[in-house]
This record gives sequence, C-alpha cells and structure tokens, in this order.
Amino acid sequence: MKNFSKITLSVLIAASATLTSCSNDDNDKPAEKESIYVRLGGTTMVSDPDNSGQMIEKGRLSFRKVVNSTIGLIVADIQSNASGNLQAHFAPLLAETGNTQATNIAKLSDNLTDFFSFNTGGTNAVNTYSGLNMVAAHDPAKNPRMGTKASNADYTKFEGYVGAAANANGVASNTELYTDIVAVLESLRTPIVQK
Ligand code: HEM
Repeated sequence: MKNFSKITLSVLIAASATLTSCSNDDNDKPAEKESIYVRLGGTTMVSDPDNSGQMIEKGRLSFRKVVNSTIGLIVADIQSNASGNLQAHFAPLLAETGNTQATNIAKLSDNLTDFFSFNTGGTNAVNTYSGLNMVAAHDPAKNPRMGTKASNADYTKFEGYVGAAANANGVASNTELYTDIVAVLESLRTPIVQK
C-alpha cells in the first residue's frame, strides 16, 4: 500500500471513530428504533415447533409463520377460481407434482423467510438470502417458475395476504410494527411489478 493511501485510511479511521463517539455522546437524540427482526423476537433461541429437538431464532420463526400463512392464503386464492386470482403467476409451481411441488414450495417458504429476515435486521448467517434478486425473481424470462408478470393489482392483493398473515400471527393492523412491515413491502413494489 502506498503511503498516501495509508494516510488516507488512517484519517478515515480516525474520523469515523470521532463520528462514532459523537453519536454515542449525543443524548438529546431519541433512541433509534429496534429493527423489525428484533421486534419480532430477534435472536432469542426458542424450540422450533415444526422440527422437534431443534432451536430457532424467534425473529426467524415469526417470519416463517407469516410466510407459511401467506402461502396458505395464496393457495386458497388460486383454488377459489375467482377472477383476477393469482393462478397464472404460480402455475409453473402448481404444475409440478408430488414431491417436486412440495419440495419447491418448501424452498420458496425458506427463501421468503430468509429474504424477510435478512432485510429487516436478521444478521445471523442462518438468514442469508441466496435466491434471485427481486427483479429477476419476478421476471418469467429469468425465473421460469414465475408464470406471468405481476401487475399493481396483483401486488396489492399479495401484500393484503401478507398483512392478513401478520394479523393471524399476532401483529395487529393498528400497530407501529405492522406499519413498518407494510413500508418494507411497499419498497419492493417497483422492482416486483413489471407490467
Ligand atoms: C411483498 C412482495 C413480494 C416479495 C417480498 C416476494 C419475494 C419473493 C422471493 C424471495 C422469491 C424467491 C426467489 C428465488 O427463490 O430465487 C419469490 C418468488 C416468486 N414470487 Fe414473489 N415476492 C413478492 C410478491 C410477489 C407477487 C405479487 C407475486 C405474483 C402475483 C409473486 C410471485 C412469485 C412467484 C410465482 C415466484 C417463483 C416461485 C419460485 O421460484 O419458487 N411474488 N418471491
């Protein structure tokens, strides 16, 4: 490393140390809000109700419950045959049979749980999301398991299911936590809606 960059680096380190200590000393500022993940139970270990003998972070378990309830609502939506249902989007997944379908729905549940946990403050490696980015995941040309592109109306419906699933798992609509979760969902509308 050249001397110049060494100096730059040490100046930066010193500056960031000062900034850190400034913010620590500043008692006038309101305390920063806890992450959504922490508010859903965070890294506290609890026994996993679906895998006997195993432990799971409470934050991750909360998200997994919401994700699985959401998947249940989507399957019910598809089975209802109502107009505007989400059938076309999930058709490739549903066209799979037996173990293949069950395995892929389980994978989707796992990926969605990782995605939400990782993006709301779940830093433990167990929550690392390794699927496609949101644009690619929802583009049938890049993800053949996405049947057709999602519209704004589809997105609003999907978001309503996540909200209902959160309600069913103890996050009431009139709470700050719920509002914060909806804000995260809304931030994903633009990349996911592609028609
Ligand atoms: C809150 C909004 C949403 C989030 C956070 C989300 C997240 C995800 C994630 C993480 C994946 C997995 C990607 C991978 O495995 O590589 C995925 C796949 C998928 N999503 Fe979404 N999604 C959302 C909205 C929607 C909407 C509105 C639809 C359709 C109406 C949709 C349909 C699908 C389908 C069909 C797949 C493919 C399933 C698969 O690859 O196994 N998603 N989504």
